[in-house]
Parts: sequence; structure tokens; C-alpha cells
Amino acid sequence: MQADLIITNALIVDGSGGAPVRGNLAIQDQRILAVGEFQPPAGANTRDAGGKVLAPGFIDSHTHDDGYLLAHPDMTPKVSQGITTVVTGNCGISLAPLVRDAVPQPLDLLGPPGLFRFATFADWVAHLQAQPAATNVIALVGHTTLRVAVMDDTARARRPRARGDGRAAGRGHAGGRLRRIHRHVLSAGGGRAHRRDHRRVRAAGRPRRLYATHLRDEADHIVPAMEEALEIGRATGARVVFSHHKLAGERNHGRSRETLELTPGRPRGSRLPGLPSVSGHFHHAAAGPREPSLAHHDHLVQGLSRGGRARFPRTHADIGPGRAGPARKAAAAAAIYFVMDEGDVERIASFPLTLFGSDGLPFDPRPHPRQWGTFPRILARMVRESGLMTLEQAVHKMTGLAARQYGLAQRGRIAPGCHADLVLFDADRVQDRATFEDPIQVSAGIDGVWVNGRRVWNEGRALPAYSGQVLRRAPDAA
Ligand code: CU
Repeated sequence: MQADLIITNALIVDGSGGAPVRGNLAIQDQRILAVGEFQPPAGANTRDAGGKVLAPGFIDSHTHDDGYLLAHPDMTPKVSQGITTVVTGNCGISLAPLVRDAVPQPLDLLGPPGLFRFATFADWVAHLQAQPAATNVIALVGHTTLRVAVMDDTARARRPRARGDGRAAGRGHAGGRLRRIHRHVLSAGGGRAHRRDHRRVRAAGRPRRLYATHLRDEADHIVPAMEEALEIGRATGARVVFSHHKLAGERNHGRSRETLELTPGRPRGSRLPGLPSVSGHFHHAAAGPREPSLAHHDHLVQGLSRGGRARFPRTHADIGPGRAGPARKAAAAAAIYFVMDEGDVERIASFPLTLFGSDGLPFDPRPHPRQWGTFPRILARMVRESGLMTLEQAVHKMTGLAARQYGLAQRGRIAPGCHADLVLFDADRVQDRATFEDPIQVSAGIDGVWVNGRRVWNEGRALPAYSGQVLRRAPDAA
């Protein structure tokens, strides 16, 4: 056996959801060469895992890391959690295709204007390939970005002369060659995104692959919002991903029973059978039930405007308009929302099709702690402490299930021939450390991370391997 590295004495959780097994794993070039109880050849480069967990690298299904990949290619907030792949362009905002000296909200959440320098999506992908970051990237096209490219003002209602926005973006220099990105995907924000827009984009680019949507409403009117998204999925033939699945507001607590019923792929009770399968992201909201937390979603601003001061005095004092300093700190966080009911969180998190995503804003000087801690937190809280799900179930959601939903070939699993995206962690010790007070903190217990066979994280330190790749849906993906 000719291996670059053999990790021995590991508890292998292979991403399939199957039970952990003890064994060794050999890496050669970018791939997993062998897994099991084989004997490492004499003189081989080995690393004793000491019985710790070896899993496929985690897939962060919901990020706004587009610009961060360029500015901080070591991707410390992510590789320190064991994340080896980030999905960018969520909530309708992507870095490309757009070149601007000044960018309007909400695109400014992605980072400084200087990062917006790719006239076409193909240019952006080519740049990521030429100068890779430490993580792999699944790059979604943001619908708001396309609109800004042709309209300037996303708050404006679509007017006749802008009607061809998707098509224009597909053809024109501003939007750039959607045809060439048909193997990528489209993501849409809430707001003014309209199903006709999506059909136009589809007509221009035939994305047909994956439609990640920030639902128009995540509170009282969530069901029609979900039905609308599912209808778009049905009309375009795209797989639908709900970028969040949350029930905001106390009177909606408990309604995940109803919303999960809408999710196709349920064994029984689907009200919309025959649709593409759907997954919802769960990203942890760091606080406990009824604690407010920050988010960047403007339509949730009712947290402040509707009695937020009385009901959430501490948070109102922290970021309210009366306090210039903290308000500035929270500038990127345009809103407050109420963290969901704990029962809803648990029900959604353990739903078989739910994926995990961090949904942080990496350039925020005080990001939500989930940017740095989501995945270790799930392993600590939902697996080790509460037993809500088994280790192999949680890892499956973070790896194999996500790879399947995004149509990735030979990713998200530990098996011979698969890409060597791996994380070695201590299941007894893994723990997020980022807090609201001190949100930029690496997690504990993540011992080693490999991306395409290269080690990018070791014992608390990022290594300059920059071995990430741009991932696309496999042509035969379901
Ligand atoms: Cu988001």
C-alpha cells in the first residue's frame, strides 16, 4: 500500500448514518485509499487517532462566506469546526456576478465593496479554482445579486423595463453567462423575489438543479410561504432547500408539526406528494428558549418594533437606537428575532431531512456565535448532553445527507475512492466556545481537518494548505 498518510486506531463514523466502527484509514493524493482493519505497511506515515472519531468533513449548508473565502482563505471560523465545504450565495445574496464600487443592502453583508469584482459568475468560479481557499465551495447564484446587477434598487417593485431581469442577467455583461453555470444553482431571498422571476432565470439559465430559498415569511404566514417555494420547485424541476426552518413568534410555537408535514419525503402525510425532496436547514440560535438573538433578516425587525422593548429589555438596551455604540456593532444585524420554542428546535433538528448550517456574517466584528460554533455545539448539546440524536445521525446530517441533497459525488462519506475530506474530533470534549460576549473563538476538541487529502487544521491551528475545490452537482445527481 502506497499511502501519504494512514490514520490508525480511529472510531470511524462514515457519514451514512451507520454505527461507528474501529479501524484505520489511508489517504493517497486527494482520496481515501482504504478503510478498515488493515495493517499499515512498515515505514508508513501514520497518525494515531487514539480512538477518537474520524468522520467525513462537515458541510455547512448555509453560509455567507463568499467574500471571506477571498479575504481569509484559511477559513479559520469554519475549518476549526471541522467544516470542509461551505455553501455560499444563500438568502439570495452572492458575491457574483456584480462589479460595484458601492453595494446596496443587503449585499453589503457579504463584505466590503472591493470584493465585488466579478462581472460574471464564471469569473468568480475561475478565481476560486485558481486561488482556492481551505474549504470546498458550493457556489449558489443569488437572485438579489442578479436583480442588483440590472436594477440597482432591490426595494423598488419590478417595473416593466426591468422585467427581463433574469434573462438580462443571463445574457448581459452584468449578469454573465447563466448558461454556463447551469450546473450551479440558484438561490433566492425573500422580499421581492417572485416566482415569475425564477421562471425567467430558469428560461435564461436552465438551472433546474437546486433552489435554496429564504422563505418570504417565517412566522404567521409560513405555510403559504412554504407552499409558494414548493410550487416554484415543482414548476422549475429544482430541488427545494428551505434556508431556514423556524417558527418565529410565540404564537407560532409548536407549529413545526404542521410545517414538517409539508415537507415532501415524509413517509406519510405529505400534502404535496410527488415533489422534489426538500431539506430544511437548522442553524443553532445560541441562546436558550425565548432569548432573543441577532439576525440579518430585515423582515423580522418586528422584534423591536412590536413591543420588543418591553419583552426583551436587555437586548433592546444592547442594540436599541438609544445606544450608539452597540447599535453600530449591530449595524449588520438589522433585526432581532425570537428564538424558537425548544420543542420546535428539537423536532426540526431531528427531522430526517434537516441539514445544518451556520448562517453567520463573517465580516461582522461581532458575529453571531454560530459563525464559529454551530457544528461543535450540535455535537456537544444535541448528541452528548441531551441525546436528541446519536453521533452517527448528527454526522450523517452534516455529511452524507448534505452531500446527497447537493448532488455531490463521492463526498460526505468515508469509503475507498471518496475525496479525503475528513475531521478527527474528540466526541467527549468537542465544544463550541464562541459566545455573544466573545464570539470569535475556535471550538475545542477538533483535532485535525483534511480537505482533499491536505491537512488544513491541526490541534488549534490553521495550516496554509488551501486545498479546497469548487464543487458542482454530479451530472447524474438525483
Ligand atoms: Cu442567510
